Amino acid sequence: MTVIKHHEKFKNFYEINHPLIAGKLTLLRQKQTDHKLFRELVHEITLLLGYEATQNLVTQTMEIHTPMETCLSPFLAGPSPVILPILRAGVGMVDALLSLMPAAKVGHIGLFRNETTLQPEGYYFKVPEDSHLRPFYVCDPMLATGGSAIRAINTLKEHGVKSITFLCVLAAPEGLEAFYKAHPEVNIYAASVDRCLDEHGYIRPGLGDAGDRMFGTL
Ligand code: PRP
Ligand code: URA
Repeated sequence: MTVIKHHEKFKNFYEINHPLIAGKLTLLRQKQTDHKLFRELVHEITLLLGYEATQNLVTQTMEIHTPMETCLSPFLAGPSPVILPILRAGVGMVDALLSLMPAAKVGHIGLFRNETTLQPEGYYFKVPEDSHLRPFYVCDPMLATGGSAIRAINTLKEHGVKSITFLCVLAAPEGLEAFYKAHPEVNIYAASVDRCLDEHGYIRPGLGDAGDRMFGTL
């Protein structure tokens, strides 16, 4: 089984096909899954996605002394990364990414999708001053029309950020298409590409409204 499915059409898109992710995603989708379990599953899926999505982190080597001998060993080099959740639901992916990259900083971008126009509306943005020097990991469980992710990455580019990776749990083909047109060089990691968007811009089969399910605001 190929763990990383590399799509021919979307050059920088990676779907992580792993049995652990697949099983957790099945639980996540089910409507009887409550908000506590939903949060735990998003956390666990993000740990597994995050492992793959961080493979571009830069390392250098240093000399260390084991109890047996002196050797060269790698360490994470360069300015620490920034994790940027898209509020609200992206918040549920932050702790998993922080446990993989404990030195990371955390920015926030507040966007909500206007449910009539399906366009993202911004209400908050805060990142470190020297963000242009740091790699960014933008996270949101859902890439539906792609509007929110595209807007978040537009904003980072306006602030001079050069290295951006986007992580999501579910992606719709329509959202991927739009994202790829806007930001073809940005790496995207997802647990699954679903069938389509419905007439309300919801992913099918999907999991419903990620923020509401995560925070119990249904
Ligand atoms: C959801 C989701 C994404 C966005 C995806 O958030 O978490 O941010 O929709 O849709 P798009 O790809 O069509 O832009 P929502 O806007 O519902 O806000 P919330 O997290 O505050 O509920
Ligand atoms: N946002 C969600 O939370 N779910 C969808 O299916 C689409 C957008």
